[in-house]
Amino acid sequence: MPLITQRPKGTQDILPCEVSMWQTVEHITAETAERYGFKEIRFPVFEHTELFTRSVGDTTDVVQKEMYTFTDKGNRSVTLRPEGTAGAVRAALENGLLGGALPQRVYYHIPCFRYEKPQTGRFRQFHQFGAELFGSESPYADAEIIALAFNILNRLGLKNIELSINSMGCPDCRGGYHKALRAFLEEKRDALCATCLDRLERNPARILDCKSPACGKAAENAPQILDFICNECAEHFGKLKSALSSMDLHYKIDPQIVRGLDYYSKTVFEFSTEDIGAQSVICGGGRYDGLIGQLGGKPMPALGFAMGIERLILTMKNQGCDFSPAKVCDLYIASAEEAALEKAAQIARVLRDEGFYAEYDIMGRGLKAQMKYADKIGAAFTLVLGGEELASGKAKVKNMKTGELSDIALDDKFAGCFSECMVLLDRACTEEG
Ligand code: HAM
Repeated sequence: MPLITQRPKGTQDILPCEVSMWQTVEHITAETAERYGFKEIRFPVFEHTELFTRSVGDTTDVVQKEMYTFTDKGNRSVTLRPEGTAGAVRAALENGLLGGALPQRVYYHIPCFRYEKPQTGRFRQFHQFGAELFGSESPYADAEIIALAFNILNRLGLKNIELSINSMGCPDCRGGYHKALRAFLEEKRDALCATCLDRLERNPARILDCKSPACGKAAENAPQILDFICNECAEHFGKLKSALSSMDLHYKIDPQIVRGLDYYSKTVFEFSTEDIGAQSVICGGGRYDGLIGQLGGKPMPALGFAMGIERLILTMKNQGCDFSPAKVCDLYIASAEEAALEKAAQIARVLRDEGFYAEYDIMGRGLKAQMKYADKIGAAFTLVLGGEELASGKAKVKNMKTGELSDIALDDKFAGCFSECMVLLDRACTEEG
């Protein structure tokens, strides 16, 4: 019978054989963030829709075209989060996190949802690691957050990564910029899509981020924000550049970076690689000094970034980076007869209590089939329990790599003796190189 359904377009199943890659990335991102003083935060997968329309911005592609929004049974409009910053800020405000010692730093691992056209590195359900720093207006905070992202990418072993930075200015300098941009795009209005015609009035900078090729073409050679930023924003950007250089963090200035979300001010940045195709941005972020006030909190500067986990993993795979391997079975206990099963279960339990991964037969297979299974799962050692072993209280542990057999007593010292076998195996593997 055919399957009654398949996974929705743009989603993925992450299978047991791939999970160790995800765990490697999740571990390194979290552990590195903690070295910089970040603590994990968890918040809901869905929020009231207005949180995103007000923060991400109602003229962005994300809000206008990509949100999974629905009315719940209580007739409320809710949305599966398209990104993490809005939810993290809402949670920090609602729970009074910003009233204590500053800066406040949080990180998260979250699934996000955007109704985009799926392609390599672009999904409808994808995963982000994000970090947000609340309460500092210093350009050294910008440098610190960029340094954290750099550090993570380095620890993951990624190569050929480029950091691009830009400044979006503050609301004061953006007025003049929007005027110049509107005048420029007005001339090309015939080439713009219907959504961008509306943006031309309300938020012309969003046209620079439109995915339609015609709008992209119309925006070529458009005025750039860096030519319009005020002295304060220019000074902030200058100090950031100098802080990055002092930390030996290489960057290029890319005036084309506008980011797809409306909340940014001053610094924006992206890390990208040419090794994963068109969806080359693996990390994006920046400052959002107006957002906390906009969401009803006491105005407070803030900044952060998010990395796409799928894109990190794709880069790591394409660049041949190391992933910590999935845990391999330490001991498979085969039973030559049913009477041995209870002893097998007992030994497995003792080993598991000591932190080993042990398995025994729960399929009612014959001895030959059990050994075949042990081979398939790559068990490091096997042990066969039959009438003789049960009667004598002794058995032989077999090193599956070398075929070497070691005597072992089936008593309360079993786990200790087995540890010694494992140490010998580790040593042999290290010597082998
Ligand atoms: P974003 O640039 O929209 O920023 O997303 C961050 C990262 O998520 C992207 O660089 C990309 O790696 C990944 N990503 C985005 N969309 C997809 C997709 N459809 N499929 C796969 N990966 C994707 C934000 O979300 C901001 N909240 C970042 C931020 C945090 N800014 C300040 N704090």
